[in-house]
Amino acid sequence: MTATLIDGKAFAAGLRERIAGHTAAMKERGITPGLAVVLVGEDPASQVYVRSKGKQTRETGMNSFEHRLPTDTPEAELLALIEQLNEDPSVNGILVQLPLPGHMDEAAVINAIRPEKDVDGFHILNVGRLATGQKSMVPCTPLGSLMLLRDHLGSLSGKSAVVIGRSNIVGKPMAQLLLRDSATVTIAHSRTQNLPDLCRGADILVAAVGRPHFVKGDWIKPGATVIDVGINRTDDGLVGDVDFAAASQVAGAITPVPGGVGPMTIACLLANTLTATARANG
Ligand code: GUN
Repeated sequence: MTATLIDGKAFAAGLRERIAGHTAAMKERGITPGLAVVLVGEDPASQVYVRSKGKQTRETGMNSFEHRLPTDTPEAELLALIEQLNEDPSVNGILVQLPLPGHMDEAAVINAIRPEKDVDGFHILNVGRLATGQKSMVPCTPLGSLMLLRDHLGSLSGKSAVVIGRSNIVGKPMAQLLLRDSATVTIAHSRTQNLPDLCRGADILVAAVGRPHFVKGDWIKPGATVIDVGINRTDDGLVGDVDFAAASQVAGAITPVPGGVGPMTIACLLANTLTATARANG
């Protein structure tokens, strides 16, 4: 192993500590940030995430409100709950855990959240604001990845960045954030031709495809910074989208899985909740 390990677990712990400090200061002014998390259905991975979000929210000193609804809940009922949370002044952030059951219109549900409380940054207004350089809520996983990149590299200006994956949750907002930091950005996806060669030109490589060990060691430019967003459950346990053993022989720096981007996601959710609370209270 020659690459520097980018320790997202330690970075996230430091971030949570700073958030807890700000939260304590807010509470002295009589304001307690509140995060409402809505889970529809029984998806096992979603249940783990939601439990973890609630626990870390409480540990930071914020109020956590959890709403669990059965799989067959009518969409109108979920929309009514969102409206109630929109109007509730003790709720500063609202997160509806995805994926939603098939009978629901995901975009309609997300866009029902008041944009100021959309701590996921998925509302169409926040997507547009990010794309046009206006103040917005920024999606948590890309935001956490950006923090790790900035911490390791300093300026990203002029660097060549390849993002593999074009999801609304990670790939597209990641590309926007890299562009905002003046990187030269390419988004690659399942139809991209000659992906290994494209990756070999990248100073920054972000893998968000959801396929175990998809990115091979010989795709990596020597000295590149590799951010592995993948969390794939396999018979060998949790593995990323990057063949870590091979990539870490070539890269300059790389995030491990677990312990890289993963812990940053919830820490950034708490950061967004704090930001939403601060904006709501002038
Ligand atoms: N499901 C997987 N990742 C996420 C996320 O970042 N936010 C929400 N709401 N659901 C998810």
